[in-house]
Amino acid sequence: MSVHKSAKRITTQVLAEMKANGEPIAMLTAYDYSMATIVDQAGVDVILVGDSASNVMAGHETTLPITLDHMIYHASSVVRAAKRALVVVDLPFGTYQGNSKEALNSAIRIMKESGAHAVKLEGGHEVKESIERILTAGIPVMGHLGLTPQSIYKFGTYSVRAKEEMEAKQLLEDTKMLNAIGCFSIVFEKIPANLAKEASASIACPTIGIGAGNGCDGQVLVLHDMLGITQEFSPRFLRRYLDMGQQMNDAIQHYVQDVRTRDFPNDDEQY
Ligand code: KIV
Repeated sequence: MSVHKSAKRITTQVLAEMKANGEPIAMLTAYDYSMATIVDQAGVDVILVGDSASNVMAGHETTLPITLDHMIYHASSVVRAAKRALVVVDLPFGTYQGNSKEALNSAIRIMKESGAHAVKLEGGHEVKESIERILTAGIPVMGHLGLTPQSIYKFGTYSVRAKEEMEAKQLLEDTKMLNAIGCFSIVFEKIPANLAKEASASIACPTIGIGAGNGCDGQVLVLHDMLGITQEFSPRFLRRYLDMGQQMNDAIQHYVQDVRTRDFPNDDEQY
């Protein structure tokens, strides 16, 4: 039987075994109990409580405004729902960069107050010390390289990263470094597919791609994007599995009409 089918709960060890066995890892975001229940029951291996909650749940333009308290609130709702999936939580902007003690304290707060299983943070060599310090507390860390949305004001655009040789070389070095210091997995966001493939093949820990092609060890999408709840965002890498925004709009319009015409509630729907 395949590794993920025989696992009652997905752990970081199960993910490593899945990579060793050539089994792709399915990861999706979730930020609340109801959605996370559906995602977990549908067989997703890893639920990411991403700081994309800043965009998707709170309507901010970037991921920068979300706070540690907000992330803990979303994460604890998801943890209550997840019976099988590994729950990974993003450390938000400003809670780990440049100060490894603060990074450790932020990660400990997430683990203690939400019950999550691991944290994710963005960056390579520049956050090495923070990652190492978090790892010393026994907290599993997922890395995140390529397009790192918390650095949007440095990049200036959300376009594909590491197309130039120097940035690609740095990404390969950071990948090997994150694997060597003990990250259990690394997200590659919006980088060329051949680079992601080469980097994935160069390390033992599993890589999870978003806009990084088919050579990664797993894939992640933002739930609200793949369900078609968010409609204005359509990058090339996004496959929409539903047009849920439209379906919800139709259903809600139908409800409004039923209320206005006094069709709802009918005799069977009252006491
Ligand atoms: O915050 C998020 O949703 C993410 C994914 C896009 C990987 O970091």
